[in-house]
Amino acid sequence: MNLNLTGKAVVVTGASRGIGLATVRTLRAEGARVLGAARTVTPELKDTGALPVPADLSTAEGVAAVMDAALAEFGGIDLLVNNVGGGDDVRPGGFLDTDDRQWTRVFDLNLLSAVRAVRAALPSLIERRGAIVNVSSINSRLPAAGPVAYSAAKAALAALGKSLAEEFGPRGVRVNTVSPGVVRTSIWEDPEGFGAQVAAAAGVEHAAFLRQIPDAFGITTGRITEPDEVAALVAFLLSEVAGNITGADYVIDGGTVKTL
Ligand SMILES: NC(=O)c1ccc[n+]([C@@H]2O[C@H](COP(=O)([O-])OP(=O)(O)OC[C@H]3O[C@@H](n4cnc5c(N)ncnc54)[C@H](OP(=O)(O)O)[C@@H]3O)[C@@H](O)[C@H]2O)c1
Repeated sequence: MNLNLTGKAVVVTGASRGIGLATVRTLRAEGARVLGAARTVTPELKDTGALPVPADLSTAEGVAAVMDAALAEFGGIDLLVNNVGGGDDVRPGGFLDTDDRQWTRVFDLNLLSAVRAVRAALPSLIERRGAIVNVSSINSRLPAAGPVAYSAAKAALAALGKSLAEEFGPRGVRVNTVSPGVVRTSIWEDPEGFGAQVAAAAGVEHAAFLRQIPDAFGITTGRITEPDEVAALVAFLLSEVAGNITGADYVIDGGTVKTL
C-alpha cells in the first residue's frame, strides 16, 4: 500500500523516544519531511533525519516555538501528530493523592499541548486539507485502570478530536484519535518510570511485573504492543488512504478492552 506521504510536512510531538520516535521513523521512511519535538534531542531522533526541536511542550511558549519552527522550516504544515503525553507527573496513586498542581500539569501536557498545537497549525491544515492524529489511551475508556488525572485528560483529548473533526471536516481537515493499550516504551521499562513505580507499590520486582503485564491486563494476544505498530496506524490515518476516516478513535491494545 502506498501511503503517498512523500514531501508532506509533518510535526510529531514527544518525538525523542517511544511511540513518537517510531512515528518519526515510519513517516521518514514514507518520504515525509518531519519536525520532531521533545525536551531532549536524542541521538536516535537526530539519526532519523527529522528536524529536532527541543521544547517543553507543557507550556504555551514551548508549543509556540515548535509550531513557529515548523512554519519557518516547511512553509506550512500538512500533518500533525499530537503524541506527547504521560509525563513526569503521571504517578501511581488515587484521587486523594492528586493535588491541583498535578492535575494542572497532567492536563497541560496531555491536553493543552494538543489544543495549542492544533490552534497554531489550523490555518495551514485548512489551506492544505491536512490531517491530525491525537494519541490518547485506552484509559479514556477504562478510566479506573490508571491514574485519575491522566485518564481524564486522555478522555478529554478523545473528545477534543471528535469536536475538531466535526468543526473542521467540512473545510477538509481530518482528525482522528489512536488509543493504545500497553506499549513497550520507557513508561513501562524505565527503572525510574511509571511501570517501575507501580511494581514497587505492589511489592513486585520490576522485571517480574513486566512479564506479568499481558496476563494482568487481560491482553488477548498475550503480548504488549510495539511502538512501530502504533506508528503504522498513525501513518495510515494521516494518509489519503484513510481519506474518508475522521472523528474515529482507533484502539490498538491486543484485545485489552473487551467492550464495544
Ligand atoms: N506506552 C504506553 O503503554 C502508552 C499507552 C497508552 C497511551 N500512551 C501515550 O502514547 C504517547 C507516547 O507515549 P510513550 O509511551 O512513547 O512515552 P515515552 O516513551 O515516555 O515518550 C514520551 C515522549 O514525550 C516527550 N516529553 C515528555 N514530557 C515532555 C515535555 N514536557 N515537553 C516535551 N516533550 C516531552 C519525551 O521526551 P523528553 O522526556 O526528552 O521531553 C518523549 O519523547 C503518550 O501520549 C502516552 O500517554 C502510551
